[in-house]
Amino acid sequence: MRMIVLGSGAGGGFPQWNCRCPVCSLAWDGDPRVKARTQSSIAVETGDGHWTLFNASPDLRSQILATRQIQPTGLRETPISAVALTNGDVDHVDGLITLRERSPFTVYATSQISAVLDANPIFGVLARDVVSRRTVELGKPFSIDDATIEFFGAPGKVPLYLETENLTIGDTSGDTVGAVVKKDGKRLVYIPGCAFVNDDVLARVEGADLLLFDGTVFEDDEMQRAGVGVKTGRRMGHVPISGPDGSLDAFKAVKVSRKVYIHINNTNPILIEGSPERRAVEARGWEVSEDGLEIAAGEAASVHDRGSTAA
Ligand code: MLT
Ligand code: MN
Ligand code: ZN
Repeated sequence: MRMIVLGSGAGGGFPQWNCRCPVCSLAWDGDPRVKARTQSSIAVETGDGHWTLFNASPDLRSQILATRQIQPTGLRETPISAVALTNGDVDHVDGLITLRERSPFTVYATSQISAVLDANPIFGVLARDVVSRRTVELGKPFSIDDATIEFFGAPGKVPLYLETENLTIGDTSGDTVGAVVKKDGKRLVYIPGCAFVNDDVLARVEGADLLLFDGTVFEDDEMQRAGVGVKTGRRMGHVPISGPDGSLDAFKAVKVSRKVYIHINNTNPILIEGSPERRAVEARGWEVSEDGLEIAAGEAASVHDRGSTAA
């Protein structure tokens, strides 16, 4: 089962358009220890030459330009079979609008995330007679091409733009999900947003061939310390990497062939090659994803040729 990281950054990408936090500044200044990253999405080869996007980011057009495998294969023919959404955040749904122009594909989402699309008329550009919508229940496997997918409730929250005073962080009813993808006898687990690691998450991940997990922040109060915001990682629905109950500790006893951080915020020092934080996660057996990282579950990783734009 092949997987390509289309965008390894969190919402806003890296560097973020309006930010000169210490890590973004390295990128703006061209420091070779950091690489720019687009926003949160992966592609999985769910059938022979057919790909499912997990999340559709605001950077989807540039991600397609950079990724030969998801470029058009014929006159108005796309290898993109489907888009599966793990929440309704802007960084995960905005790219659906890029996929207008009347090519058939199917959008898979929970009822909560489907309701977000239904409530916003701009998603009507995906004409219903061309783009199918499938509402998926948690814990009920479904097929895309030759793959079997299952959504499970990941502790999370509603999208930022739907937050109210009664916000619950850690809700697992379907506003935020993780996806288990099975194909060719391999299992991939993709969880780009997770407020804390509970027993269900651990059970889903145990024994997987590949885990792609929420690497938004290294420290819970990293955004406050960088002076760019008042919210903690957990308040944003993202468990920090370090610290008590951070993801490094939470997954320490779990058996997974490869563990990869994804959805990495621009403030996170793991973005800096050779930084103490980067070395700390690598020492614990984690990889830090970058755009274009391609993994065949069960094999070694490679970063595919980024110069593959329709030449
Ligand atoms: C998040 O993952 O916390 C969101 O992408 C925040 C946002 O919508 O910018
Ligand atoms: Mn996000
Ligand atoms: Zn920044």
